[in-house]
Amino acid sequence: MATGWGSLLQDEQQLEELARQAVDRALAEGVLLRTLQEPSSSDVVSYAPFTLFPSLVPSALLEQAYAVQMDFNMLVDAVSQNAAFLEQTLSSTIKRDNFTARLFNIYKQVLKEGIAQTVFLGLNRSDYMFQRNADGSPVLKQIEINTISASFGGLASRTPAVHRHVLNVLSKTKEAAKILSNNPSKGLAQGITKAWELYGSANALVLLIAQEKERNIFDQRAIENELLAKNIHVIRRRFEDVFEKGSLDQDRRLFMDGQEVAVVYFRDGYMPSQYSVQNWEARLLLERSCAIKCPDIATQLAGTKKVQQELSRMGVLEMLLPGQPETVARLRATFAGLYSLDMGEEGDQAITEALAAPSQFVLKPQREGGGNNLYGEEMVQALEHLKDSEERASYILMEKIEPEPFGNCLLRPGSPVRVVQCISELGIFGVYVSISACHVPPNPTTTIAILTERERRKLTATEHEM
Ligand SMILES: Nc1ncnc2c1ncn2[C@@H]1O[C@H](COP(=O)(O)OP(=O)(O)OP(=O)(O)O)[C@@H](O)[C@H]1O
Ligand SMILES: [Mg+2]
Repeated sequence: MATGWGSLLQDEQQLEELARQAVDRALAEGVLLRTLQEPSSSDVVSYAPFTLFPSLVPSALLEQAYAVQMDFNMLVDAVSQNAAFLEQTLSSTIKRDNFTARLFNIYKQVLKEGIAQTVFLGLNRSDYMFQRNADGSPVLKQIEINTISASFGGLASRTPAVHRHVLNVLSKTKEAAKILSNNPSKGLAQGITKAWELYGSANALVLLIAQEKERNIFDQRAIENELLAKNIHVIRRRFEDVFEKGSLDQDRRLFMDGQEVAVVYFRDGYMPSQYSVQNWEARLLLERSCAIKCPDIATQLAGTKKVQQELSRMGVLEMLLPGQPETVARLRATFAGLYSLDMGEEGDQAITEALAAPSQFVLKPQREGGGNNLYGEEMVQALEHLKDSEERASYILMEKIEPEPFGNCLLRPGSPVRVVQCISELGIFGVYVSISACHVPPNPTTTIAILTERERRKLTATEHEM
């Protein structure tokens, strides 16, 4: 696995000049974030952090990640349609994790009253790192799959031009030409378009559930712009707006400010801090509606760390994807070690192993948005504290992936240009639309999983993030 930019990293003066050029090109291309100081306004913006040089990805692993994305789309869909599996898998977690429990309560409530929409839109991102096998060959290992608010599709569409620019400045035209084009925002917009068409009302809108303070707005605008070019209008509203002004008619059609909504696209609602009492009410209203949700609450639950851990248990993939041994093998090949911390022998064993070799494990709560995982000494302290308490069931343990570090410059506003050791993560976006053959009945075992294979195959876009 070639990983470095070698002697190019030695010349400090050249790096500084390159960085100036790269930053200007990033600004010109629209690799932008709002500032920390003014997260609600686009009056002053800066560039989103990026690496000066592109990160190298072994082509075989990129191909593998593309190929398995279709399988992950199928899997997420299968999990989200399997109420018995979700209920059983999350039963211990929801006793101890209030956030997952609240999501689950909404799920149960809409299941009970009957799900109003048969079309489901999935826009997910599967994240990977590369690790070396004992024999030295590189392998792809999944970190996790994000089923709600998977971001950076928009900005990642614009970074190839920046990296080509850097290499062209260095007269490395051959290398520049090797940088693949990338356009996830187009694929994500295609998915929303398909869902909007299936909803079948020419005047209905896409409702993007947005945060008030949204630094990453340009990432979202890239998708909005694609939609507008197809004459599909997007309105951005907060949960608070939905609470105040959203309503359902007698057919459970969703209206916002008097306009009918065909598709709800969540770029909020994945963390506990994003929910007030009113926001939970608004989420329930949206879930009860017959607008197509991206994701619906079941698909959000399918993306929890606990589900990820249970999927790695022998026999589970086979149960969810019966008669598809090759799909199962492709999926399983990307799994790292994942361990339940539920009370009992299995969980005790996992804790003993993690305490004996802390550098080989990561402790993960059921959270999204980064910064919640525990490593090393912090993990040890948490495990010591948790090990005799049922609270441990709200976490999982994961094998720590050890990618090879390589030198690069991380460019971020206000930071000096210097070479640091980096590790990279590859995110592959997956897009699918599935149609449940009937309104979901109260008994989940009779849910018909779908006439949609052809539909999904046609639609599945696989684009890489970085
Ligand atoms: N098993 C692992 N081995 C090594 N690093 C890991 C592992 N799991 C997670 N990480 C690191 O922690 C980061 C966050 O982990 P993860 O994606 O599971 O959490 P998250 O809160 O869902 O993050 P995100 O905001 O990216 O969805 C990853 O991007 C990766 O850098
Ligand atoms: Mg995540």
